[in-house]
Amino acid sequence: MTKTPSPPPRRLFLETAGLTLGAAALARAFPAAAANCGVTGAATEGPFYVANAPRLVDINILGAPGIPMRIEGTVYGGPDGRRPLPGAVVEIWHCDHEGAYHPAGNGDISAWPLESINLRGLAATDKAGHFAFASIVPGHYGVRRRHIHWKFAAPGHRPLTTQSYWEDERGGARARFDLVDREVEACRWVKFQAGPDGVVSGRFDVVLAPLG
Ligand SMILES: [Fe+2]
Repeated sequence: MTKTPSPPPRRLFLETAGLTLGAAALARAFPAAAANCGVTGAATEGPFYVANAPRLVDINILGAPGIPMRIEGTVYGGPDGRRPLPGAVVEIWHCDHEGAYHPAGNGDISAWPLESINLRGLAATDKAGHFAFASIVPGHYGVRRRHIHWKFAAPGHRPLTTQSYWEDERGGARARFDLVDREVEACRWVKFQAGPDGVVSGRFDVVLAPLG
């Protein structure tokens, strides 16, 4: 029987060093800004949450007009709130560029005709706890600030329903007079930037609280 040779000491050292560097890189990857926010704050789901939305990354399945938007982030958790959570379920929904939801109602998705469903979906985070959605920039409705609705769920953590906002609109008239969700920590004001391809991109990192 052939015996597998043991790796030489130098190779063992390099593998160990690589693991150590990997762990350090992971720790460095935690966004500095998020360190001041702690567990991500909750906000109402509002009247337009539809359960059992489709699993999608590009949630503009009906090709609604608007400025292309990409929103991505990492879901963190664990005892110190800094461990990326693979397999977390991330759910997103928002209005179209004129402020209308599709459908403009709630309940289970099976109650709605397919052609009425748009700009909502869910995805699981990858091995690094990362998620990304493609859509269009939502408009305004009523007196609300421009916003995106979210739900996050991960084993061993409290589920979270929340909303994110546009950093560029912070302090504006809508932000001042919108009575919904008044206590918004800095990390839920997302900085969006337009790329050369015309896509507006933002990053929303989230920290979930462990159960117990
Ligand atoms: Fe809304």
